[in-house]
Amino acid sequence: MNVKDNQKELLLTIENKLAEILGNCSAPKVLVDAMRHSLLDAGKRVRPMLTLAFCEAGGGDVNNALNAACAVEMIHTYSLIHDDLPCMDNDDFRRGKPSCHKAFGEATALLAGDALLTMAFEVLMDSDGVPADMLLASCRELAHLAGEYGMIGGQVIDLQSEGKVISLSELMAMHKGKTCALIESACVLGCLSAGKDGAELAAAREYAYNLGMAFQIVDDILDVEGDPLLLGKPVASDAQNSKNTYVTLLGIDKAREEAAAYTDRAMGSLSIFGGRAEFLREFAQKLGKRIF
Ligand code: IPE
Ligand code: IPE
Ligand code: MG
Ligand code: MG
Ligand code: MG
Repeated sequence: MNVKDNQKELLLTIENKLAEILGNCSAPKVLVDAMRHSLLDAGKRVRPMLTLAFCEAGGGDVNNALNAACAVEMIHTYSLIHDDLPCMDNDDFRRGKPSCHKAFGEATALLAGDALLTMAFEVLMDSDGVPADMLLASCRELAHLAGEYGMIGGQVIDLQSEGKVISLSELMAMHKGKTCALIESACVLGCLSAGKDGAELAAAREYAYNLGMAFQIVDDILDVEGDPLLLGKPVASDAQNSKNTYVTLLGIDKAREEAAAYTDRAMGSLSIFGGRAEFLREFAQKLGKRIF
């Protein structure tokens, strides 16, 4: 199925698969309710769409990438649940609803995040039609990029930097970790689902880095001038927590320029995929201009 012409249908396929995964879950009801609250019926699904689109760009069947796409979205959702906790960003709204800890309490929210993280690997391992060596590589990539070298590492820099002024290179390292790494896992798993590694994987990583930087810079800008109703999460959270962002370091105009430059670089990194990357080029452009 062609990603560009079937975006709505593919988004629905992702929603249905996520619901099916939790529908089959026989854990204690309060835990499953908390997981459902945060995972279902919300979120832009940027990462799973990237997984499907890179599978297509690599010449694969997008159905083979569906489990990997859901696994990345589950890990992303866990990162949001934990990011909102009082000990981290202390935000009360997420995806247009009360944050998980507001609805279910801190302990259940913590455990719902843990459960999504661990279940993601089970979901990935249940992928259909992906050669075993590619699946093993996917598992390793996901663990590496979600973990201390990737998302978690970036989140630690983010928290440690609160109330201090850091350099631009430290800020870049923070964004690379907390945001680019999971986006990279989405793109890489898409390629691997299509049986592609080598040069295609390198191009996917370059796209992911540049798209991820643009994505987080726009997130930083929207925290200053976005509409909380559209965003589904609070604004001015970064200022309240004395965070370092592209806006605090460079100002809003320069931040906008940087986001546009990273978007251009993302679009320019896809030549190896030829015409099959049309959706990915348009997606980068659309995300660069997003208002939520
Ligand atoms: C929010 O990600 C966290 C960042 C890395 C900026 P998204 O903006 O993709 O959030 P959802 O998935 O749409 O809720
Ligand atoms: C968080 O960045 C990135 C994650 C790993 C969750 P932010 O803290 O800026 O994300 P939002 O603005 O709360 O979505
Ligand atoms: Mg944060
Ligand atoms: Mg946050
Ligand atoms: Mg933010």
